[in-house]
Amino acid sequence: MKKQSIKEEVQRIRQLWTGFMPARVLLTANNLGVFEHLKSWKGLREVSSALKTDQRGTELLLNALVSLGLLQKRANQYKVTSLARKYLLRESPYYQGNIIRHADSLWKGWSELDTAVRTGRPTASDRDFESFILGMHDIAKLKVKEVVDNIPLRGVKTALDLGGGPGTYSMELAKRGVRVTLFDRAETIRIAKGIIQESQVEGIEFMAGDFTTDPIGKGYDLVFISQILHAYSERESLRILKKVRKALRPGGRVVVQEFFVSPGHTSPLWGAIFAINMLVNTSEGRTYSPSEIKNWLKKAGFRTGSSKRLDETVLIMGKICA
Ligand SMILES: C[S@@+](CC[C@H](N)C(=O)[O-])C[C@H]1O[C@@H](n2cnc3c(N)ncnc32)[C@H](O)[C@@H]1O
Repeated sequence: MKKQSIKEEVQRIRQLWTGFMPARVLLTANNLGVFEHLKSWKGLREVSSALKTDQRGTELLLNALVSLGLLQKRANQYKVTSLARKYLLRESPYYQGNIIRHADSLWKGWSELDTAVRTGRPTASDRDFESFILGMHDIAKLKVKEVVDNIPLRGVKTALDLGGGPGTYSMELAKRGVRVTLFDRAETIRIAKGIIQESQVEGIEFMAGDFTTDPIGKGYDLVFISQILHAYSERESLRILKKVRKALRPGGRVVVQEFFVSPGHTSPLWGAIFAINMLVNTSEGRTYSPSEIKNWLKKAGFRTGSSKRLDETVLIMGKICA
């Protein structure tokens, strides 16, 4: 690897310790509705009076957003850039504002990371549940087709979307002719029903409960477990997979989608950083390597088949041993 100059090294270190500042600017702008107000050119006074914010504070925020490439400035007027228009306005199919609101609700817990590391206990308390579930939809809607394209659906008539959240994957499976049961907590199902109704997708049934303690149904051809296991310990994950095995028909399949880490748990960066999110938010969660997940599948009575690396996640397929 090329040796870095002192300047480059200092810049790298500084980028790391200031990393929270641009993030905070975006979270605050998203909370205040800055982008929605700047669909067209507006002056500072107009913006701060519409947002009911201080003029100096607003000016400095807007200037920082220009430097981040989210606003443009011309003759003391501001407007969203094409990047912000695509991802930060509600009207866009690519909208990411809910997951950004969710990140804001993680902020407090993350700022107590020192305590989480000292105690090993979660520091998050008042998470905004609605932005969490809507945020899952923001993320999943951008990749759902690619993910479902990689799930073998031949012969699959019924599926359980375990911890299906906003129902993004349930809807895509239903569109492909699968009868789907979305299992999640009652408060999540209330939100999922709204999203699914708005999308006018049919063929989805709902089951409310806690999948670690309540029955999850049986006789499914496929169980899809997306972004669930990272919130649980190894022991609990194995218990969940054993329960899933019993819910499948003979010869049925399971597909696990997860963020992943290398066997040493140190790369890629997102997998290692997301483990910290689980430290802050759960008592036992972390990210796992694909081989750890495959091992649990084997122990739970599955023959593991192919696995597929996508950009951020891995899909691991399992089939009940004959
Ligand atoms: C990170 S979200 C993933 C949602 C969806 N599977 C996806 O990939 O977009 C985790 C979901 O699992 C649900 N969940 C976690 N533990 C659960 C449990 N014990 N019982 C029911 N639902 C649970 C949460 O309510 C949430 O909707």
